[in-house]
Amino acid sequence: MIGPAMKLAVRADLLDFSAAPSWGSPTLDGVRFRPDHWLFVEGGRILGAEPAAAVDPGADWQRHDHRGRLLMPGFIDTHVHCPQLDVIASWGAGLLDWLETYTFPAEQRYADPDVAAVGAARFLDALLAHGTTAAVVFATVHRASAEALFSAAAQRGMRIVTGKVLMDRHAPDGLRDDVAGAEADCEALIARWHGQGRNAYAATIRFAVTSTPEQLAMAGELGRRHAGLYMQTHVAENLDEVKWVAALYPEARSYLDVYHRAGLLHERAVLAHGIWLDAHDRALLRETGAHIAHSPSSNLFLGSGLFDWQAARDAAHGVSIASDVGGGTSLCQLRSLAEAYKVQALRGTRLNAWTALHAATRGAAGLLGLAHEIGHLEAGTLADLAVWSWAQGPVAEYRDAVARGAEPGVAAQDLHTRVFAWMTLGDERNLAATYIAGRLAAGSAADP
Ligand code: GUN
Ligand code: ZN
Repeated sequence: MIGPAMKLAVRADLLDFSAAPSWGSPTLDGVRFRPDHWLFVEGGRILGAEPAAAVDPGADWQRHDHRGRLLMPGFIDTHVHCPQLDVIASWGAGLLDWLETYTFPAEQRYADPDVAAVGAARFLDALLAHGTTAAVVFATVHRASAEALFSAAAQRGMRIVTGKVLMDRHAPDGLRDDVAGAEADCEALIARWHGQGRNAYAATIRFAVTSTPEQLAMAGELGRRHAGLYMQTHVAENLDEVKWVAALYPEARSYLDVYHRAGLLHERAVLAHGIWLDAHDRALLRETGAHIAHSPSSNLFLGSGLFDWQAARDAAHGVSIASDVGGGTSLCQLRSLAEAYKVQALRGTRLNAWTALHAATRGAAGLLGLAHEIGHLEAGTLADLAVWSWAQGPVAEYRDAVARGAEPGVAAQDLHTRVFAWMTLGDERNLAATYIAGRLAAGSAADP
């Protein structure tokens, strides 16, 4: 471990984005690849990068030599549930049954502050072990669960956006709040944690089903009362859910409109899924600046549907990438991206690796208003980094050798081919190290 004020130089192949990459056929627009460079970090912030062939860090620099590996900004997971590590990979249910059978009972345990504290630590350490350095997180309805997440994130220096879940109806005993009590809990959590260090508060509405209109209105008020407050929720994930919302809110034009009427759509609003949206909804997302946290592994696992990224692109609203564990089956954003490719393939669109990786790094940072801090490797940003091996195991290693042109008689392939194979075949076993503000937070400094 090194202190944040120390000088650290990390050697690796550096990959990040200077701008949004092209959609469709891959080009190198916006892609910044700097093979075998030293990345210099001082006081937890990136200073710059130099080719290893040209520059040797002086003796006052601590060196982490990851040569031959890939270094990227740490992944940003824009929608994930802390208490759902208990139910990841639960068999046999679509969304509404899955909530009732598995998820709500697991979340009831978080009423106990000790369970919440242990769970928060386990969850954040798991994110770090998967190369994810920042996340927008659902706690549970219990104030202690959000408290535990903020506290554990502060200890680790991580950028976390979270909040206590609002749910005052259609939920079992022990998981319901009420408008006045929830407002008091939110105010207390905001006063204690919002804007403290790298923590930010999100008004966290589970979904339109589990909040009364009065509670949605209260959440809208909170957002207007507190500068920089985020909003997170689920929208249009599953057809049974969409029907239920239509019955509960007959006055609304659509599911998304329920949130709009409550003043909940704005530039810091993160809505998971958005599979069953129409053109009006997509235009509303663009107009309000709210964005969709696309959660492909969850959408496939729960059988929810195939997100239409091309339509989102045509409507010019934001899309980030999320694991949605425990509906999703992996905290590893490489797995989310590989699943995103397959979802788009089923829709007849080929997602390129640049668009995918951008959506989990600089793109997500921009949508969250955090591009000054995270998501890329420019000087002045915090050194939240992940270092990956290019390949693990004989098949991926062989595929990578083919891409590099290291196999006899095979010409080197282009960079996108190599990175796409890494993204498709890789997972957390490829992770060599995770850094939070220049401090080693998972993995090792380097090994031969
Ligand atoms: N909709 C309401 N709650 C949830 C949840 O916990 N997970 C998912 N995937 N969808 C939801
Ligand atoms: Zn979710």
